[in-house]
Amino acid sequence: MKNTRQYKAGDVIIRPIEENEPVPHHLLFDADPSRALVDGYLPASMVFVAILDDKVIGVYVLYPIDSSVIEIKNIAVAGELQGKGIGTLMLKDAAEQSGIMGFSTIIIGTGNSSVGQLYLYQKMGYEITGIRKNFFTDNYREPLYENGIQVKHMVMLEQQLTNEK
Ligand code: ACO
Repeated sequence: MKNTRQYKAGDVIIRPIEENEPVPHHLLFDADPSRALVDGYLPASMVFVAILDDKVIGVYVLYPIDSSVIEIKNIAVAGELQGKGIGTLMLKDAAEQSGIMGFSTIIIGTGNSSVGQLYLYQKMGYEITGIRKNFFTDNYREPLYENGIQVKHMVMLEQQLTNEK
């Protein structure tokens, strides 16, 4: 699925990764520390990058589940640039791109401990639809902690899209 549309806001450009451009794994691993899971979903995904001053400073990954549902499998902004609205821009872009491609629902999952991410996704119009119980304890080798809470379950959220072809 080829999509070459670019989204620009301020000085940040969000665009599909180019064919021979390296995938920013260091950013992907900030959002998902499992190399096995990342390597598993990347080949069937579309990768988008956020560029500032010619540098890749953000990434998000879209993974089609079926012909109507697409998932943001991974979204990350470089540490020093977090909290400046780039994640919000990428979420808007992800919903826009997915609608244009004809998907009617976009989903995203995050840890039970990811309080800031849950705040952001709900603020952006996502609603909680369910929990993948023990997803992190079953799929990650080491126990993970965030905000002083063990990351055990994946909270799933979704948003309906309006197709803007
Ligand atoms: N903790 C607290 N608040 C947060 C967090 C957080 N981790 N992330 C976002 N927010 C809040 C911001 O404070 C801001 O609040 P405001 O609008 O009231 O001022 C709001 O959410 C929007 O923040 P942005 O600046 O648009 O988000 P940012 O550019 O930081 O991107 C992201 C958000 C992608 C989660 C980034 O913080 C990040 O890369 N974190 C590390 C990796 C990660 O956790 N990725 C998501 C995992 S889930 C998945 O990948 C499907």
